[in-house]
This record gives sequence, structure tokens and C-alpha cells, in this order.
Amino acid sequence: MKNNIKITKTQSSRLSTVDFNNLPFGRIFSDHMFIVDYENGVWVNPRIVPFEHFPMHPGSMVLHYGQAIFEGMKASKGYDGTPFLFRPEMHAKRLNASAERMCMPTLPEDLFLEGLHALVGVDADWIPPQEGSALYLRPFMIATDEFIGVRPSDHYRFMIITCPVGPYYSKPVRLKVETEYVRAVNGGTGEAKAAGNYAGSLLPARKAQQAGFDQVMWMDGHEFRYIQEVGTMNIFFVIDGKVITPATDGAILKGITRDCVLTILRDKGYEVEERPLTIDEVLDAFEAGTLQEVFGTGTAAVIAHVAEISYKGRELILPPVADRKVAQFVFDQINGLRAGKIADSHQWIVPVNMDAMVGA
Ligand code: COI
Repeated sequence: MKNNIKITKTQSSRLSTVDFNNLPFGRIFSDHMFIVDYENGVWVNPRIVPFEHFPMHPGSMVLHYGQAIFEGMKASKGYDGTPFLFRPEMHAKRLNASAERMCMPTLPEDLFLEGLHALVGVDADWIPPQEGSALYLRPFMIATDEFIGVRPSDHYRFMIITCPVGPYYSKPVRLKVETEYVRAVNGGTGEAKAAGNYAGSLLPARKAQQAGFDQVMWMDGHEFRYIQEVGTMNIFFVIDGKVITPATDGAILKGITRDCVLTILRDKGYEVEERPLTIDEVLDAFEAGTLQEVFGTGTAAVIAHVAEISYKGRELILPPVADRKVAQFVFDQINGLRAGKIADSHQWIVPVNMDAMVGA
């Protein structure tokens, strides 16, 4: 291991207390976490320690100005029990793109990857064995200067924590097209996986939930016509056999599951378009009876069927899930890849390097 990660293992594992058949998303944390600190322009003291609280100065800059970014990833086990990471290099690159946008230091990719391998290696028994379940990995970076003037922090902490999880949505989601609030505009931070983007989405999401919906569908901030994302996912439409997703334009998160879905569908010969898509086009397709499927994509949710879209009092009830061939196909492919049951022609699956935890 190039980065000399120091590993201290817990003396009291909580693993035996976990019911792997009942895993609420994001509430159960594994035994260890990875930490590395940024001081004087360099990342120092990479370590894996027992999962625990850590003290913070009340003036820590992240608490005031929100310099905080994160990733969402999953580790799973193949049919033979081998622990895998899924597209870890792409997550390392996206983390660093987010860091640059938020004026934070980038993390050397090899340090990100070694930290992941070592942590997942140490906590490999926390990867749920059930197909469709996974160990959700949450890398994140925060500003830690003890200062409340407004400027970029000089000190940062990067950590990875992990949670065994089952499926994110248990049923198809009902969406309300957002016509008041916006998630992101070009030139803003929408393309970064920045914590503040999620904070800003909470009030619209709560209002949508109070009105009986699960999530909002975000529109562009200028005309409220162009579809961006839904909730915390990218969005796909199947119209007359063609698969369409909004082109990333600087305001839309470049989802890694989105990229997998595009690749899998193109490989299979589907006609796929990444382009600006208006809500009017979706309404027209619905009226014409050609709106066949709508689904969200994200690491946590993987594929989430959309049951209904509500727009200015109009309810678009979508075809039954049993008829959704495209979404079902990509879902089966991604789960099959993650379970090691489908040939990995794009080298997305990376076996966890158990040597990374030598020295434990
Ligand atoms: C993910 O899909 O991993 C996300 O980052 C969404 C999350 C906020 C639950």
C-alpha cells in the first residue's frame, strides 16, 4: 500500500446485532471508518479506526458556509462471496470535480481508492449477502478550519463511512413537477455533489410529500420547461420505444448509474438520446399514448419506477410496472453485474484488494 493507511480494529464488533433482512436505509453503520486530514497543503495521517463520534469545534467552517461534498457508492459480494466495488475510479473523479467546484482540495485518486479497498476489506462481513442489498459507501469531505470569516478553509477532513442497505424505494414513486422552487441553474453548484444542493431540496420535497407525492421533478430555473432530475436521482423517459434522458448541462448531476444505464441500453441496441427534454413533450407523449416508461436512476435507488407525474393539476398515470421492459432490463443487468452473474464487459466491477488491509 503506497499510502500507509494505519488500521486500528474495533474490539467490540456490532455485526452480530444487525438483521440483514431488515435494513432501513442509512441508519446502521458498520464497525469502522476511514479518515484522512488535509493540513498545510497535504493529506496526512490516513487511518481506519473504529466507527465513533468525533469532536468538532463549533466554529468549524463546514458548519457555517457548507463546504461539504460527498459520494454515494456501493460494495457488494459476487456469487462466490468475493467483495466488489462498483466503478470506484469514476467516483474518485466525480468527488474531485465536486471538490474543485466547491473550492476544496482534490484527493489523490490512489488515496481515495486505497482507503476504500482497505475499509471495505476490514468491514467485508458487513456486505449483505442478499441480491439487491449492498454496503452503501459514503465518502465525504468537510471544511474544518476554526474560523467564521468567509473564505475557503485551509483544513479539511475526508472520511468514508458505510451502511448495509436494502432497496431504497419499496414501491414506484409519485412525482410532482416543481413549478416554484429550483434545484440548480447553470453556473451554480448543481453538477457538484455538494451537501447544500440537498439541503435546498428539502423544503420542496417536504411540500410535495405533504401533498401526497414522494418526490419532486426538478425543472430548469429560467423557463420551468426543461426537465432536470427527480428528487435525488437522474431521470429517464421511454417514448415510443426511444429512451430519452436530459443532457447534463452544468446544472444536472452526472450520475454514475445514469452513465451505466446509457451504456447498457446502447450496448443492447436501444435508441438512446441525451438532449434537452421539455415537460410539454412528455405531456404530448402521454396524450398520444406513447409515454411508456419513466424511471429514476441513482446509486442508492438503482432504478426507481415512476408511477405518476403531477403537473399543474394534471395527473399522468403511467403504465403498470409489469409492462416496463426497459427499466426491468437495466435493473436486472445492474443487479446481475453487482452479483457477479453477468459478464462485466466494461470492467466496472473491481474486486476488493484484501491486501490493502495488511498490517491490521
Ligand atoms: C445516491 O444515490 O447515492 C445519492 O447520493 C442519493 C442520496 C442522497 C441518498
